[in-house]
Amino acid sequence: MNTQRENFGSKLAVILAMAGSAVGLGNIWRFPYIAGENGGAAFIIVYALASFFLALPIFYAESIIGRRSRANTFGAMKTLAPGTPWKWLGLITVLTPLLILSYYSVVGGWSIEYFFKALAFDFTGAPPDKISSFFGGFISSTWEPLIMHTLFVGATTVIVFMGVKNGIERFSKITMPALFVLIVAIAIYGCTLPGAGKGVSYLLKPDFSKLSGSAVASAIGQAFFSLSLGVGTILVYASYMRKEESIFSAGAYTTIADFLFAIIAGFAIMPAVFAAGIEPGAGPGLVFETLPFIFNQMGAAVPWLSATVAILFFLTILVAALTSSISLMEVGVSYLMENTRLGRKMATVLTGVFVWMIGIVCSLSFGPMSGIVIGGENIFGALDKLCSNWLMPFGGLLFTIFVGWKMSRADVRDEFTNGGTRSRGLFKLVYFLIRYVAPVGIIVVFITAILGL
Ligand code: PFF
Repeated sequence: MNTQRENFGSKLAVILAMAGSAVGLGNIWRFPYIAGENGGAAFIIVYALASFFLALPIFYAESIIGRRSRANTFGAMKTLAPGTPWKWLGLITVLTPLLILSYYSVVGGWSIEYFFKALAFDFTGAPPDKISSFFGGFISSTWEPLIMHTLFVGATTVIVFMGVKNGIERFSKITMPALFVLIVAIAIYGCTLPGAGKGVSYLLKPDFSKLSGSAVASAIGQAFFSLSLGVGTILVYASYMRKEESIFSAGAYTTIADFLFAIIAGFAIMPAVFAAGIEPGAGPGLVFETLPFIFNQMGAAVPWLSATVAILFFLTILVAALTSSISLMEVGVSYLMENTRLGRKMATVLTGVFVWMIGIVCSLSFGPMSGIVIGGENIFGALDKLCSNWLMPFGGLLFTIFVGWKMSRADVRDEFTNGGTRSRGLFKLVYFLIRYVAPVGIIVVFITAILGL
């Protein structure tokens, strides 16, 4: 058993790594199309409430468990609740992130493909209908998406292989600030496009008639997905957090950064969707179908600018995806390192191969395996729904029950307030949210979704 544990080097490093995990394809690829499928502004209001009142308390619950136990998800349950069935929560939360990573890597692969296309100036000057039809042809083919998926899993594996400080921390520190600047610049540009106004009002004017029970469940699922919750990622990152750092500020900064990033990504994409005359509910292809069209239009006027923005945009998606995928992989790797004799290198390679194999099925489910339909979705879609709308909230529910009802109040307080020295005034509120608001909220949503209201 490998017992040497690394730590993040500073407060900034913790926040950037957690924000790196949170900000990813969920913000740029998933948020716009899920908001588009569920009616825009009204969905965003529920998403905001869910982020701060359901998800943030779970963020704190996971952080408290992680830093208190200084272990992977399974080890944490064995340390804090030895000899109890809580170990199963630890095991489920080793598997769920790997399932998520397997389909996440497929989309990561799509962004590599588009990045290469941008580098080759493919969006500048090509006929628009060719550009929008490219996406469907690409994802339904067999080899090309598989090669890209392989590259993405490979890149994730290499970073995690290098460890917490040299890999995860260094990568997140360089890329996160750059990402933020890029997405703001693209959003400003998107809002100046002719016809963009409709997209802006789609994001700002709520139509509550479109808010069904399943739209609310999707908004909550999106909050969980976007904040990387309920699957142990934040738990594991918090286990690398030094004792003197504030759990409160790590959670608050990460949630605010993640929320802002999603909204700004919405402004980078939705105006462009309307300017291009594309349906906001077009599904997982939304970002990939919309933006090249815009880059193409732009290219007619200023080709070099169009090519530059296209390259930067797909690089943004790719880097954001990598800072998240490494956090997903780290959950499996920390489990293997701390519960078997494997060292980081071998644990990383094994996890990578496992994820890569499941990802192959997800990738093929857009092409040769598209005939397999589960609940109206292909394998990729069914797995995403299962993880985001069910497993993540379920994991989150159990984490809040664990911290709110199983751990002693004194221990929870000690960990959250760093031994009574920090954020003391906020503890009562946070504890109340963890103990009552988050679990009841999740249970109500589950019941609503099960009854199909
Ligand atoms: N939060 C990431 C995103 O928004 O892209 C996705 C993710 C990362 C989900 C880590 C779950 C997770 F544990």
